[in-house]
Amino acid sequence: MSLPKAFDNDESYFKSAVEFLENYSWIYSEANTSCIKALDRMPKVFKDYFLSASNESLNTFPFVHVPLEDCPNELQDLRQQIAKMIPEAHTPTAPRKVPSKCSNQNRKIGRKKLHEIEQLAANIHEHCAKAETQLLVDLGSGLGYLSEALLQLNDNYLILGLEADEQRVISAQQRCEKLMPQKALNSISYRQEFVSADAQCRDRIEAHTSELAQSHGLSPELTTITMAIIGLHACADLSVSAMRLFLTMPQVRSLLIMPCCYHKLALREGIDDLVSSPFVNFPLSSALNKATANLAVCCFNRPFLRLACQETSSRWRKDSAAHAEHGHQMYWRALANAVSDDPDELVKVQPKSQQTTHDFNGLCLRYQLHSRLTAQLLSWRPSHETRFRQINERYSEGRGSHLAEALCCLQTSIQKLCENLLLYDRLCYLREAAAEQQLRVEVRYEQLFDEQVSPRCQVLIAKKL
Ligand SMILES: C[S@@+](CC[C@H](N)C(=O)[O-])C[C@H]1O[C@@H](n2cnc3c(N)ncnc32)[C@H](O)[C@@H]1O
Repeated sequence: MSLPKAFDNDESYFKSAVEFLENYSWIYSEANTSCIKALDRMPKVFKDYFLSASNESLNTFPFVHVPLEDCPNELQDLRQQIAKMIPEAHTPTAPRKVPSKCSNQNRKIGRKKLHEIEQLAANIHEHCAKAETQLLVDLGSGLGYLSEALLQLNDNYLILGLEADEQRVISAQQRCEKLMPQKALNSISYRQEFVSADAQCRDRIEAHTSELAQSHGLSPELTTITMAIIGLHACADLSVSAMRLFLTMPQVRSLLIMPCCYHKLALREGIDDLVSSPFVNFPLSSALNKATANLAVCCFNRPFLRLACQETSSRWRKDSAAHAEHGHQMYWRALANAVSDDPDELVKVQPKSQQTTHDFNGLCLRYQLHSRLTAQLLSWRPSHETRFRQINERYSEGRGSHLAEALCCLQTSIQKLCENLLLYDRLCYLREAAAEQQLRVEVRYEQLFDEQVSPRCQVLIAKKL
């Protein structure tokens, strides 16, 4: 995740990306369960193209660097704009060789998770060996997989695992006692802690690390200890707290963190205008904040963040039956939502039911209506049937399902742009904040994992020079 080649500075990149998103926010600004509104806003020329496009064209469309001759000018232009604003696809770093005991111990962990643990641990270890790091602080340590893998690579590390969920802290401790050699039990310390970047939390982290260092005969003063902050799937605001802790803790020399779940970023309090971003930690950099300053409507909302952390285009290619099935499910779910149109009503999928007909009866069989206030099951009413007819008339004969899949195709096409904007904003912020503190840092993202296996595959790597 970086500055695309077509731009020579951050501000012009952010400006172009924000202008693009402002024009095309209809592609993502509604949740897919409410996508009828997005379909209504889709330009006719887009609809005409996707209704007649071949499966091959649909499969190729999100790969915006690949020419697609059959597109009308409006869609050619859209694809060219996206292609300019996303970094060139790069090959992931060649997988590291991981000692076999690391894999053996984690036999019950799924392939994706194991791939992530092994590759991130090997990358951190390589980096820490160069930086002579002694103590690692694993943020959002969960069940302790990353910490364990690192200790297997070097049993001289001291590791402090911080985790908000008490049950996970207990499970991590139990796992460690059961699986790790005696020496490791003294080298890993799991603590329950909701990590933030405020001064009190920083003081507690320093107290924990000092205690761990002291128990190993190192100076509790910490000034002589080299530390790194690490994390695998550090969700939502946790990766931003990690960046701030890296900047404010002098003994922390490196940061290696793999962010995820951007859609869980915390909301700001008391925002009632439509222009400001509703999130505490996005945008962060002054460059992106400047680019959004004159917007009429803010283009960053929860669906934007959700799209940024969705599947990448690498799994988009499917056969026509799979596209048709996905579009069908998405359209009918959204249609049921749109038909209900009462904020006190909630639509749920009827468990184990199949939609047998493509009419109002079919919809009533497949979806249930509940009261949000009392949770009681409600009956579909004649007014719902009237709305059904009005909406379905616009999207009859399978057009709705087809266009719902077209909308997904457009979302997949801009997913990388959304993710790059969010991750690159963090990188710019880290550089800006370091410069303000007169700290010399080197910051970059590295694609560590195979995107097909693990869509969130970018690791933010920062070191103090
Ligand atoms: C997606 S899980 C990843 C767990 C582990 N790193 C792994 O990859 O197996 C994210 C973990 O971070 C924890 N977490 C999220 N925000 C946190 C915070 N602010 N402070 C501490 N833990 C946090 C969650 O409870 C959860 O266990």
